[in-house]
Order: sequence, then structure tokens, then C-alpha cells
Amino acid sequence: MEPITIPSLQVENIAPGTRVLLRASLNVPLEGGAVSNTFRLRESLETIESLAHTGARVVVCAHIGRAKTESLLPVWDAMKKESDLPIYFATDVCGSDATKKAATLKNGEVLLLENVRQEAGEETNDPVFAKKLASFGDVYVNDAFPDSHRAHASVVGVPALLPHFMGPNFAREYVALERARTPESPSLAIVGGAKLETKEPLLRTLLSLYDSVFVGGALANEFYKAQGYEVGKSLISGKETSAGALLKSGKVQVPEDVVVQTTLGKKEVRDASEVLADDIIYDIGPRSLETLKKTIAEARFILWNGPMGNFEAGYDEGTFSVAKFVAESSATSVVGGGDTVAAIERLGNAKDYTHVSSAGGAMLDFIGNGTIAGVEALK
Ligand code: 3PG
Repeated sequence: MEPITIPSLQVENIAPGTRVLLRASLNVPLEGGAVSNTFRLRESLETIESLAHTGARVVVCAHIGRAKTESLLPVWDAMKKESDLPIYFATDVCGSDATKKAATLKNGEVLLLENVRQEAGEETNDPVFAKKLASFGDVYVNDAFPDSHRAHASVVGVPALLPHFMGPNFAREYVALERARTPESPSLAIVGGAKLETKEPLLRTLLSLYDSVFVGGALANEFYKAQGYEVGKSLISGKETSAGALLKSGKVQVPEDVVVQTTLGKKEVRDASEVLADDIIYDIGPRSLETLKKTIAEARFILWNGPMGNFEAGYDEGTFSVAKFVAESSATSVVGGGDTVAAIERLGNAKDYTHVSSAGGAMLDFIGNGTIAGVEALK
């Protein structure tokens, strides 16, 4: 593993009264205007609480969603329910409300700024905006690994202006994902979900680093197509993909059987080469799971990202089985991705994995490319 060249936050070295500008990862799902999953929020609160308890004045900046109109107000509500800290909310990012509230913040208090993406300068990494944001801190802590593949002002602009550290959540992700780039043999990568186009760089890297790469979810459909198999009405990109070239590595394992939904809406198991023109492939089949179970049991390092089937629609047998097999194995295991983490949360067995990553795209980019913008900005 590469030596870590990024300074880590040592909370005990933060003097009371220090103004800490914390980039947190608060891009959480909302349902009916309320936070529906608090996984990331709870992780961020641990860092916020440890800083506040040392007497720091903590100004938290974060984004939510992609639309500039989205607000962190529901996240503030959820934070207040999860924590006893005095947490205030600024209705702007660095306007008069934020400036006034930041100036009157006392030791041990927390101010959450409004969605940083409401400011146009965030996504363009505008130096004037970065300077305004930096004015809220004596030091900057990036604890938002999941957002750090974006070269935005709060990720790369501010650390250039302030003494900077990686927070504990960032550090955990960084160390685990560095480790996933130097896996012990026999190593196994399991990749599911959809969109081969976006996962191509990742798959290429995994094929160079891992002994075998198992492909599930809609991603597998591209490989069936490349082998000349019928995929019926299953989800595929519709574009030319590199699946054929990736298969030539000899390391790609594709599920040998699948669970399909037939025209009558029934679930049926078929050999992967016997899918019918009207079928929709929704999960991996029982024989594939048995084969995968053995590979998992023999592996010493397992990386898993992405569901094995249409998890949301109830085709969750493959994903839950893989979650259990990986949890039971004695291998070092690094798992991540939104649906993967959702499955693990439903099983309630997060402690049975070496590392559960809350990063989605950032995890894929980091493993695929070896670094991300926010990591470079802290070096
Ligand atoms: C994520 O949820 O993957 C991160 O918070 C990044 O969000 P983004 O894709 O909107 O930049």
C-alpha cells in the first residue's frame, strides 16, 4: 500500500475556539421531504460531534441533489433528531445569514450552511466563491470522500486556501480503497448494477488488479449480448460496448443462469443461453450463486459494488445471497454502492465486512483511476 501522504485530522490538536470548515457528505435520499436513509448523516455526525466536543466552532458545508433549488433544510431537521448538539442552519451559503450566524457561533456549536450547489461558483470552482467559503474557517477538513470526485470549490478550491486535513470518514474510505487497489490473492471483484459505459474504466482496472471479476446485474446483459446470447427485453445500453474485448481477458465471470420475468409476469430460472425474446432478466440464478459462493469462500480479498439484480423491484435474492456469502467469508471485504449498502442495511450485518463504503461514483473513480480530485487537493 502507498504511504498516506495526506494529513489526517487529529481532533485533540484542535484548540477550543478554532473555526473548522468541514466539508461533509450529506447528499442523502429524501422521501416526502424527509431524510429516508441516515447512513451518511450518522457518519458525518460522528466527526461533527468530536470536533464540537473539543470546543471547535464547526461550520458544515455540503451539497444535496443535483438541482440548485434543493435545500439541506430536511437534513438539518434529521441532524437535530440524531444529535443533542446546538446545530444552527444558514438559509444561504455565504450570504448575510451565513455570515451573521458564523460570526456569532460559540465554542462547541455547529452551523450548517445551505446546499453549497445553490452557488454557481461551487461547480465551476470559482476562486472568489472559494475565498468566501474559506473565510468561515481557520482550518478546513474534508470528510466527504463520496463527493470528492467532483473538482468543485468546496472540495478543491478551499483546501488551497486553508490548512487542510482529511476527516475520519474520508481517511477510512481512502485507506480501504487504496487497499482495494492492491488486493491479496486469490482476489475477487464482484461488480453489478447497470451502465457498462460508466463502469468500463473500473472494469479494465479490476481486470488488471484482480484474479477474477464476476459481473452481475444489468451489466451482465452486455456480456451475454457480446457472446451472441438472446437478452430479450432486458436492460442494455443499446450502444456498442467493450464487453467482447473485456471477455478476452479470460478473467470475467458471467452468471451461468438467470431469473427472468416472463411475458405472463412470472419469475422463472433459465440457463443464460436460453433466455426468450420476451423475457426480462432481473436477477442471477441459483447455479451462478452456488459457483460464486465457492469463489467467495476461496478468496482472500473481495471487492463488491452494485446489486446482482433488480433489487428495487423485489428481485433481491442474488444481492442478499452475495451479501451473506461475503459477510460469512474470512476474506478482507470492501463493499460499496447505493443499492449494495441498502441491502446490507436491510440485513443489518455491516459489521461483518471489513469496510462498507458510503461512496458511489467516487469509489468507482478512485479504484478505476487510482485517485480523485479531492484526494489530490489534500496532498
Ligand atoms: C453521491 O451521492 O454519489 C455523491 O454525494 C456525489 O453526488 P453527485 O453525483 O451529485 O455529485
